[in-house]
Amino acid sequence: MGLDDEQIAAIRGSWAPVYAARDLAAGLFYGRLFQIAPESRALFSGDPTEQGRKLTETLAYVIEALDRPEALVEPVEALARRHVDYGVRPEDYAAVGRALIWMLERHLGGGFTPQARLAWVAAYDHLARRMIAAAYPEVGGAGLRAPGAAAAAEGRAGGPDTES
Ligand code: HEM
Repeated sequence: MGLDDEQIAAIRGSWAPVYAARDLAAGLFYGRLFQIAPESRALFSGDPTEQGRKLTETLAYVIEALDRPEALVEPVEALARRHVDYGVRPEDYAAVGRALIWMLERHLGGGFTPQARLAWVAAYDHLARRMIAAAYPEVGGAGLRAPGAAAAAEGRAGGPDTES
């Protein structure tokens, strides 16, 4: 995923306590997502706890494989294509990224170092671009607007998407 060893270590170190409390973390994540992107709530029809577990297990898998990015290409592209059937649009990825960063911040408090935040933003940005490019060839990487990630990186998660 184009991350260096330090970034991978920062992501793994910050993920461990989140994964240890994954149901709670998933609840925080969806709560935030539905707050900043209320229209996305209608896309989710399954049991929220189950949905949260699928998300955290997938993130755990991705994080475990960050140093073997070639192993991620196929499953991530397939995941992205399934999301088209769930009604997800390219522009939805920015809010999910912001909710994820917000959840990490909430969960980890001062333990979420600036280095860890930057590493997470870079990793999510990369993952989302990959997913968008795979699932919406006509959009390419343009669906995830950089300002979304920049806002998350600067702690303005949830703010308007209008910054330059
Ligand atoms: C890095 C980004 C994402 C990851 C890792 C992820 C992960 C997952 C996983 C593991 C599932 C379970 C079903 C499956 O494996 O196909 C799922 C389902 C779903 N995801 Fe995502 N997702 C991501 C981005 C998004 C985005 C941007 C949205 C838009 C709001 C979204 C909305 C949904 C919906 C609506 C479902 C189906 C829920 C249902 O069946 O009720 N996801 N996601």
